[in-house]
Amino acid sequence: MTLAYGNLIQPLQREHHLQDYQKAVESFNWQDVEQHFTWYKTGKVNMVYECLDRHVYEGYGDKLAIHYINGDIEEKYTFAQLKQKTDHVATVYKKYGIQKGDRVFIFLPKNPDCYIAILAAIKIGAIAGPLFEGFMEESIKDRMLDCGAKLLVTDHVLGKRVPKSTIPTLETVLIAGEPEQCEAGEISLYAELRNTVADANVIEWGTLDDGFIIHYTSGSTGKPKGVLHRQKAMIHQYLTGKWVCDVKEDDVYWCTSHPGWVTGSVYGLYAPWLNRATVVIHGGRFDADSWYSIIEKAGVTIWYSAPTAFRMLMAEGEQLHLNYDLSSLRHVLSVGEPLNPEAIRWAIEELNVRIHDTWWMTETGGHLIVNFPSQPIKPGSMGRAFPGITVAILDEDGQELPNGEIGQLCVKADYPGLMKEIWNNPEKFQSYFPYEGWYVSGDMAYKDDEGYIFFQGRNDDMINSAGESISPFEVESKLIEHPAVAEAGVIGKPDALRGEIVKAFIVLGPLYKPSSALLEEIRLFVRNHLSAHNAPREIEVLEQLPKTRISGKIMRRVLKAWELNLDPGDTSQLDGGVLARVAVVS
Ligand code: WT7
Repeated sequence: MTLAYGNLIQPLQREHHLQDYQKAVESFNWQDVEQHFTWYKTGKVNMVYECLDRHVYEGYGDKLAIHYINGDIEEKYTFAQLKQKTDHVATVYKKYGIQKGDRVFIFLPKNPDCYIAILAAIKIGAIAGPLFEGFMEESIKDRMLDCGAKLLVTDHVLGKRVPKSTIPTLETVLIAGEPEQCEAGEISLYAELRNTVADANVIEWGTLDDGFIIHYTSGSTGKPKGVLHRQKAMIHQYLTGKWVCDVKEDDVYWCTSHPGWVTGSVYGLYAPWLNRATVVIHGGRFDADSWYSIIEKAGVTIWYSAPTAFRMLMAEGEQLHLNYDLSSLRHVLSVGEPLNPEAIRWAIEELNVRIHDTWWMTETGGHLIVNFPSQPIKPGSMGRAFPGITVAILDEDGQELPNGEIGQLCVKADYPGLMKEIWNNPEKFQSYFPYEGWYVSGDMAYKDDEGYIFFQGRNDDMINSAGESISPFEVESKLIEHPAVAEAGVIGKPDALRGEIVKAFIVLGPLYKPSSALLEEIRLFVRNHLSAHNAPREIEVLEQLPKTRISGKIMRRVLKAWELNLDPGDTSQLDGGVLARVAVVS
């Protein structure tokens, strides 16, 4: 079977929560969704109450909430156990002075401690700041400093990467481990738990407008921005979990993202637990065998991952999955980067499921453009607007473009999941709303006559490698801190597996000669200070970089054109001295 771009793939015949898209769009009202929540009657708001505690009070305490698998290690927690554990950790936080609105950072690998530490913070009205486990010193410091972190939960391995003494607001470091794993000044969380009694009423109530979690996202200029989400987002997260992820009573749900990323928190914790599913947590990195074995072992029914992961599984060939019983799978979703029609074809042929692409961003707090399990998929399209969400393609003046024309992908800023603010940065927040009432995504796209949206790329220089947004500015800034690097320009180079890879063009200082050892040292410099995903996979040394004549700004557009053998377009601003790519040969 070949799937041409745009050809329809019909749904597999099953019952889904959302059966009739058109009807849902016509009759939709966010207020109707509010009735699902306990606060609709009580007026008392807390995300964790809706995710865990209420299930216990409603008789589901014995239901499995977490199934954790990491190699041979397996742990299981019921909703009742999770309620108790989050109460207990929250009691310890309170003992160390954490109050409503304080920022609690969590730097842990994907394991139950990480999920519990995040939820415990939210339970007492603090703002959780979860950090991706791959971050290195500077990425951690930038975020904790910006946010004024007061307490950190980490472990004795990752904790070594945190420059604690450089964060003046940091009062307490809890190590998810035993006292012998703690360094001077650190406190063993496990010992604290043994020595404290959990307060079953530790919960702090708030309002729908209260912030509860911050996720940092890289921008094309400046340091990463802290996107603060508010409790109200649960309305959006619950309903997208129900309609898009199609979570039902007995589902076993696996989202492969770390909760430091927004996908890992919204669709790794809230959406499945607001819908009372069992959440599978897989510790460890990507490895095709262990991924398939997770599906078999846990009996995963809903699986949410990213195109790079699907492409990696495809690259393993068509035999590997035959070693596993994957028949439990009924619904598969994807996010973060364009989903190739080829991957959808592979999933249908090999796994007997369609892959449902979803589009959203850290700032949007939840799904906006989606493929529903009951609706036809057009390969190459990200799907259609979720009911209650208005998507439009606008031109530079904020005017809506006709169907089929490429323009800025924008969303009406009138739905419950949209970010509350950018931490400490009102100007940046405002910059998302240049046209009255619209959120501007920075993505380019077009819409067809049936409302399907087709992604066409970013409107800025942001790089998307394996679904992670990488700022060329951040990588360039780090590169030029290396003593050998005089100048740097960074672009995304198309890559069959990762979508894009980070490619750096550098000019060396006068005293340095290029060598593979030096280039490797420079690559590691970025890797060790920021993170592995920021480190350039390719570095090329040039004699000069293309710059604008007047301001001397590096023209990434020209670098990209050189790399791809394309016409660089308007070069009237280009400094006449640098008209071609002249590599320095060692
Ligand atoms: C950017 C947002 C919250 C999702 C995880 C990434 C790109 C996201 C898709 C998709 C093509 C996509 C966009 C977007 N993106 N989903 N289905 N198809 N591109 O969150 O790090 O905030 O990045 O990821 O460019 O703007 P993020």
